Order: sequence, then C-alpha cells, then structure tokens
Amino acid sequence: MKILLFGGAGQLGFEIQKRAFDLDFEVVSPVLSEVDITNEHQVTFLSQKVRADLVINCAAYTAVDKAETDQEEAYKINRDGAAVVARAAREVGSRMIHISTDYVFDGTASAPISESHPTNPINVYGASKLAGEIEVQNVLGNRALVVRTSSLHGQRGENFVHTMVKLFTEREVVKVVNDQWMSATWAGWLAEAVLDLGRTDCHGLVHASCAGALTWYDFAAAILQQVQEKNEAARRCKLEPTTAQAFARPARRPQYSVFDCTRLTTLLGRKPISWQDGLRSHLREIGY
Ligand SMILES: NC(=O)c1ccc[n+]([C@@H]2O[C@H](COP(=O)([O-])OP(=O)(O)OC[C@H]3O[C@@H](n4cnc5c(N)ncnc54)[C@H](OP(=O)(O)O)[C@@H]3O)[C@@H](O)[C@H]2O)c1
Repeated sequence: MKILLFGGAGQLGFEIQKRAFDLDFEVVSPVLSEVDITNEHQVTFLSQKVRADLVINCAAYTAVDKAETDQEEAYKINRDGAAVVARAAREVGSRMIHISTDYVFDGTASAPISESHPTNPINVYGASKLAGEIEVQNVLGNRALVVRTSSLHGQRGENFVHTMVKLFTEREVVKVVNDQWMSATWAGWLAEAVLDLGRTDCHGLVHASCAGALTWYDFAAAILQQVQEKNEAARRCKLEPTTAQAFARPARRPQYSVFDCTRLTTLLGRKPISWQDGLRSHLREIGY
C-alpha cells in the first residue's frame, strides 16, 4: 500500500515513517521546504505524481500559545492546508487520515469523551483544528477518517517528557500543574494504530490515546521516578504540584481531556496500551 505522508518530519510523522517499512507500506513524505500544504499547486502536483492509496496528514500548526496571536497562520495551515490536502486526495481517489486533537473540546466533561461529544474549542489552535476536521470531511465524505489524539510524546521534537527530563537534571524544584486531566499518548503506539487504521475502510471520527487518566503532575512524577534511577542530578530534584491558574499561559487548556477509545478498540480489535507502557517505551528510546 502506498502512502503520501505530510508532516513526516514531526513528532508523529517521524514515528509513522519509522514503522511503515516493517509493516509493508511504501511511504512518500515531502518535508516542508519541498511541499507546503497551503500551496495547492505543490500538493496537487505531488499527489498526481504519487497517486497514493492513502494520504496521511500529520502536518499542522502546533504552537498552541503562539496561535493566540498568530491566528491567521494557524487557520492557514490547520484549516486551509488540510482542505488543500483533502482536495488533492479526492482528485486521485485516495483515502485520507487526518490527525486532529482533544483541544476541539472545552474540557468541561467529567467522563471519558467519545466521538459524539459536542465540540467547543477554547483556544485558537483548537478552533483552527476543528475547522480543518470539518473541511476534510466536507471534501472527502466517507473517504476520510479524522483521528483525534491527545498529549503526544515521542522521540522526535519538543514535548513534555523531554522538557521534564531536562528540568529534573537542572533544577532543585520543578512545579507542575495538578488540576488538568489527560491521556498521555506515546507517538510510537499511535503511529502503529494509524497505519493499522489505514488498512481498514472506516471513516468519520475516531479517538485514539493511550489508556488511563492522569494529571500533568502525575505524568511528571512517573518520569522523575524513572529518570532518578539513572541520573544522579535528578535525585536532588523535588517535584511540587501547582494549579493551572498559577501557571497561566496565553492559551487556555481544557481541564479534562480524557478519551473514550471504544471505537478505536473495535476497529483495531485490540485495546490501547497504558500511558505507563507508552512512557516506558519512550524513555527507553532516549536512554532512561
Ligand atoms: N503534540 C501534541 O501533543 C498533539 C496533541 C493532539 C493532537 N496533535 C496533532 O497531531 C498531529 C501531529 O502533531 P505533532 O506533535 O507530530 O506535530 P509537530 O511535531 O509540530 O509536527 C508538525 C509537522 O508539520 C509540518 N508542517 C507545519 N506546517 C506545514 C506546512 N504548511 N506544510 C507542510 N508541513 C508543515 C512541520 O514541519 P517542520 O518540522 O519543518 O516545522 C512538522 O514536520 C497534528 O495534527 C497535531 O495537531 C498533537
């Protein structure tokens, strides 16, 4: 099966490329300097040349705080770019998997969130991603699958795990928010799930995260425990809980972002791995 992958140099795209060959996929993945998804000519030209069975769009504007003051660029990539990719896929008859986010929700839920839960983004990034989901589905109908995920961490790029590992070895005290719940998701696991979904003909929306609900403080504590086993400096570091209010950032974050992955489990015939197993795999890859 031939895949045209956008955003292949990013956190998730990198993991998809790492696994695709072993799972018998042929992947073509241009970097941003070769193909910008907001450039219809570039995207269409490549799509006509590759004529992929499946297009996967991991390309996105992901700077959540910056998006608050950079609204135009966020919408240009997350809404308009997604629509460009969808139109190019439609022209050659490809299916498309489009990656989206838990930030399409407002965080007021109190139980795991299923695909039918009403969307209501509370920041520009989330609103631009929701607009992208709608465009992709309008263009491709039942040839599109939108995979929403949450709190990604993986070997490539900046993410919470890498930030914590660095802070634990540099600081005596690290404070982390303990009143926002999420499902930390290892990009390596998600990459395999996305590739497996690519072999199905399912469409619509699917929620995909590692299993379990935790706060960012819980996640930091698990990272610290593992890092301390190997790193002397980290043994001196103390972790303290704080609140989202005390740790104010430009973009508001949902307070509760835990997914119900029942549909994913049915489609794949297996349950998501736990966030603890995902974290262990990631830390092992970076030497902890
Ligand atoms: N990270 C999270 O916690 C999280 C949570 C939920 C959902 N998601 C979603 O998951 C997907 C993957 O996220 P990620 O963490 O892998 O993101 P990422 O590491 O920021 O990667 C995004 C990729 O998109 C590329 N890109 C940006 N603008 C582009 C454009 N105009 N044309 C072509 N490529 C462009 C970037 O290129 P450069 O490398 O050259 O900049 C980068 O390779 C996104 O849809 C994101 O919204 C992420």
